Amino acid sequence: MCGIVGYTGYREAYPILIKGLHRLEYRGYDSAGTAIYDDKSRELNIYKAKGKVSDLEKAAMGHNHCGSLGIAHTRWATHGHPNETNAHPHVSETGQLTIVHNGIIENYIILRDQLKDKGYHFKSETDTEVLVQLIQYVMDSHNTDLVTSVRLALEKVIGAYAILVVDTKNPDTLVAARKSSPMVIGIGENNCEFFIASDASPIIEYTNRMVYLEDEQIAVCHRGEALQIIALDNSEVAVNVKKVNLDLSMLDKGGYPHFMLKEIHDQPQCIRDCMRGRIVQDGKRIVLSAVTEHREELLKAKRIIIVSCGTSWHAGLIGKLLIEQFCRIPVEVAYASEFRYSDPVIDSNDIVIAISQSGETADTLAAIQLASEHGALIFGIVNVVGSSIARASDTGTYIHVGPEIGVASTKAFTGQVTVLTMIALAVGRERGTVSEEKYSSLINELLTIPELMEKVLAQDEKIKLIAQQYATSHNMLYLGRAYNYPVALEGALKLKEISYIHAEGYPAAEMKHGPIALVDENMPVVFIATHHKLYEKILSNMQEVIARKGKVLAIVTEGDETIKGMAENIIEVPQVDNSLAPLLTVLPLQMLAYHVAVAKGLDVDQPRNLAKSVTVE
Ligand code: F6R
Repeated sequence: MCGIVGYTGYREAYPILIKGLHRLEYRGYDSAGTAIYDDKSRELNIYKAKGKVSDLEKAAMGHNHCGSLGIAHTRWATHGHPNETNAHPHVSETGQLTIVHNGIIENYIILRDQLKDKGYHFKSETDTEVLVQLIQYVMDSHNTDLVTSVRLALEKVIGAYAILVVDTKNPDTLVAARKSSPMVIGIGENNCEFFIASDASPIIEYTNRMVYLEDEQIAVCHRGEALQIIALDNSEVAVNVKKVNLDLSMLDKGGYPHFMLKEIHDQPQCIRDCMRGRIVQDGKRIVLSAVTEHREELLKAKRIIIVSCGTSWHAGLIGKLLIEQFCRIPVEVAYASEFRYSDPVIDSNDIVIAISQSGETADTLAAIQLASEHGALIFGIVNVVGSSIARASDTGTYIHVGPEIGVASTKAFTGQVTVLTMIALAVGRERGTVSEEKYSSLINELLTIPELMEKVLAQDEKIKLIAQQYATSHNMLYLGRAYNYPVALEGALKLKEISYIHAEGYPAAEMKHGPIALVDENMPVVFIATHHKLYEKILSNMQEVIARKGKVLAIVTEGDETIKGMAENIIEVPQVDNSLAPLLTVLPLQMLAYHVAVAKGLDVDQPRNLAKSVTVE
């Protein structure tokens, strides 16, 4: 979490930094700040504001922010309240060094106490201020330059960091370093300028030549000189420049009022992009290079473990059903945060699938690092190309749905489920656990999903009207079975995170083991009740709710007359095979959450307390 941007070169830094912060605001938005070195007055001008990047712009308006070297930060608070004092950049006591930081310094209390004993004073409650003071202390006591001081200071640090440091005595150079928090360096023409950021989105309009800094590496960005990278042990590291392709038009709202709504409506195209080049021979075969390359391991796999968090964990639950149905391999789905500390039993024959939109989720990354140490094959299902999880995986399949900017995940979920479906079918065919007939019919149906999604999305106005009825609710229940149970969990999560209405997802049949006690005339219950072999059973659950005056909103298969007569509201989705149903049934729930939040006047794209990329534990 937190987004950082830096620039050193010949252009004005301020517009680059502000635009970059806007692009990174999905990572945190409780306060923001910039520090820009004015070459003429030889001063570092720092502006900070509580709130969003637009508040920072207001604070900086009318003040001097000239200069062609600067750093900037948008914060998601970890240590200390979201206020101006705790906002980054932070400055060392002498004023010589200034830092922005994404991550957590775990041993900051010990370090702060040691520095206090040496006479240092602290203004903020942050771990970041401790880090900049530590670097300053090393510099002063060892008489070292900035790079060496950063390196020696980081040797004492436990935790995660992506940092940018400015030294006012050497104002042509930005020093960057990372461990467990992402950092990308864009290289301008002839090395005369460098763009540094938490991801590629603030950089791509200036250059596509990028270097992904690895853990425990320090980069020296000196304008006019070649990029230099050293490791924490002071050894020189080869600079590996990659050409990054990112479509700039994907980074704006495309006429929609919110990124979330755009991303909901982008899904048909995203799923086409996700399948492109993978469903080949006129729709007869699925070819995934990761499956081809690791055919042997997949054939002999005795177990698959899926690790992920949040929405990606819900996709993992659907993945379990798909892989068990089509490949007959037992699958466990673990919250990455629990898995990493549970002393898990991992075998070198296990395959661990990591699912992550951002590819930066700290717990998921740590979970695969642990699994890798035990010899398991790591298979990443990731959206952000070149992200930490993608790089830490042995193999994998990108979901290719384009940048997801709305904090509530939508298109990444359907992209993840599509990739899991393709993997399950491709592996199932190799193992002979899915019939040729089923394999072909499911591929054909999968290819129609984008068109069917368009049909569901066309009900947006209707869902908007339905949503008004739920905007005053305090609680909601979401119930589904089999493939639609993870969809119930996902629908409840979407509502919670952007509308702040308490919502719970449950397997429908479990309802009578407790949650039914909550049902009364004030409890809306959303049933995902499409046609499948458990349809009759879910009808009984619906009767039980109606008998207790619960208000039912049902997601049903097109033409379902039975539920039409029972539920207060229904939303229809086209009939597809059960295993593909989540790709359609989740859409009305995304739209419902969106319209409820808008009806409540809430900030859909930047809900309180959340950040898109969770790079802290
Ligand atoms: C919910 C949401 C989060 C993420 C979770 C994992 O809408 O976005 O629950 O799914 O933080 O993030 P990734 O997929 O980036 O690992």
